[in-house]
Amino acid sequence: MPHSVPAAPAPAVAPDALLVEVAWEVCNQVGGIYTVIRSKVPATMQDWGDRYCLLGPYFAQQAQSEFEPYTEEQLAECTDPFAGAVRAMRAQGYEVQLGIWLITGRPRVVLIDPFQLYPRLDELKSNLWEHHHIPVPAADDLLHQVVAFGELTKTFLAILAAEVVPPQRLVAHFHEWMTGVAIPALRREQVPAHLVFTTHATLLGRYLAMNDPNFYDHLMQVEWQAEARHFNIEPAVTMERAAAHGAHVFTTVSELTVRECIYLLDRIPDAVLPNGLNIERFVALHEFQNLHQQYKTKIHEFVMAHFFQSYSFELDKTLYLFTSGRYEYHNKGFDLTLEALARLNYRLQQSGLEINVVMFFITKRPFHSINPQVLQSRAVLEEVRETCEAIERQVGERLFYAAAASDDNRLPDLSTMVDDYWRLRYRRTLQSWKTKALPPVITHNLIDDQDDDILNFLRRSNLVNNQHDRVKIVYHPDFVSPASPLFGMEYGQFVRGCHLGIFPSYYEPWGYTPLECVARGVPAITSDLSGFGDYVMQHVPKHEDQGIFVVERQEKSFEEAAEQLTDMLWEFVQLNRRERIMQRNNVESSAEMFDWKNLRVYYDHAYQLALERG
Ligand code: G6P
Ligand code: GLC
Repeated sequence: MPHSVPAAPAPAVAPDALLVEVAWEVCNQVGGIYTVIRSKVPATMQDWGDRYCLLGPYFAQQAQSEFEPYTEEQLAECTDPFAGAVRAMRAQGYEVQLGIWLITGRPRVVLIDPFQLYPRLDELKSNLWEHHHIPVPAADDLLHQVVAFGELTKTFLAILAAEVVPPQRLVAHFHEWMTGVAIPALRREQVPAHLVFTTHATLLGRYLAMNDPNFYDHLMQVEWQAEARHFNIEPAVTMERAAAHGAHVFTTVSELTVRECIYLLDRIPDAVLPNGLNIERFVALHEFQNLHQQYKTKIHEFVMAHFFQSYSFELDKTLYLFTSGRYEYHNKGFDLTLEALARLNYRLQQSGLEINVVMFFITKRPFHSINPQVLQSRAVLEEVRETCEAIERQVGERLFYAAAASDDNRLPDLSTMVDDYWRLRYRRTLQSWKTKALPPVITHNLIDDQDDDILNFLRRSNLVNNQHDRVKIVYHPDFVSPASPLFGMEYGQFVRGCHLGIFPSYYEPWGYTPLECVARGVPAITSDLSGFGDYVMQHVPKHEDQGIFVVERQEKSFEEAAEQLTDMLWEFVQLNRRERIMQRNNVESSAEMFDWKNLRVYYDHAYQLALERG
């Protein structure tokens, strides 16, 4: 089993070492690794400071908003080895930029444009094949960018290593195969750097998990090459394996992924580096509770517009549940969540409990447009609000006058104070709004409506927002963003406004979504097949008391897991408001243990190990 790293206080990391962290998502957000790198910066800077630098690919459009390049003068004046390497590389005719990543911590970054090496692609590809048996096909643009960037990374590190004056040493940490492709050549050319490679999932693992319902049982027998060919991902898988084998220290993000690495990459990771966040807490404890109330009110507005056109229910007795993530129906546990919701609906109907649940699915699917009916309803409700406000103003002024002028103290009949115009408008707007149709379960018109797994489940189980359903569904196949006409808020604000996040994944090397809830004081459900859930099971005793619930899927059937999830939801809907508030307080205060300030130590241990080995 991998060398398990003790969570001891961080030893001073070799004060004579420099650290370069290389990732495709530096100044370039694609997925979860961006969150890892970006959120870790403040904690890393604390100890490494000037000895730390990030390296990523330069894409003009992404860099524009996040990157501030040094001016020529700044670069010329800079005396540290990173700037020296950038100048030396420029002198050799390369385009390289040094600057600041405009995020908390303001770290230094080197960005290199991969396209500058396109004229040499054939040569680079044949080298990869000849020296490392990595095949790269003719027309795959991502692979081409990766190959070119790998060569540039190697060049930069080789120049940097030459700038480094012993006893100073160089640690280079690569994330994912896209940057790891530089590792074999660095070893072959014996560049004096201590190399760490972290995989955040295995490529093959993700594909297999999506396609094999018994993935975990079959893991031990997988023939990597045959499967990689089958899924048409052999080049990337070969790069991943070469990086894992070539690094001095090989790591991954969770014990679950360790198993994948053993069977699919054939190397036992040296360490597990769990993911954290930069937890920012409010000075006043109640502040995050106020934010919950504030954003819940915004969600109320959406819910009124979406449902009240057809029928109403009591918002004060309504709970907002949600899930979010990439649309991987099975891997993300959407299937399990839906099954549990259907069961919860039944239990609620039988119980006489007055609680309603609105469940949001926030994910990304190709769509034609927002459903016009949904937009229209929102617009008309806005008109209702304007009408109410106009009436309120009119009544307000007239009442004030009547009060001042009256000779008794009885409240006059307020309805006589509204003009016919506004009465009529009030009636007409409401009339045009109310409908007998059921509120749609999905907010957009999907391109693939007929074959969509979520929709098909809802149709099959008749969970279609009937008035008598106590669990209502809103499937929003797009990111929540301030620009969206439906929610008009940041994802983080939406999370705060909800009551519970549900993420019982089947395949999830780490999984940030539940942790993002916890950081905002919102309880969350995860599974023991997600790296985060597995970590919680092993390291956080009594996690239920802190509002983190783990569905057991490792040893249990789908049926058993669905029942367990239903029980969790059932318990949750029975909490009263006071209990929910207390639970949120507990959740929020437990977030601290996932702060990078505490988890960074795992990285430092890996660097230490690399320095001992390389
Ligand atoms: C926060 C607010 C309270 C509010 C409560 C609602 O704690 O500070 O004023 O009553 O949220 O909680 P609920 O779980 O019912 O949304
Ligand atoms: C990958 C994994 C995800 C993890 C992320 C960051 O995207 O699939 O589970 O959270 O990397 O490590």
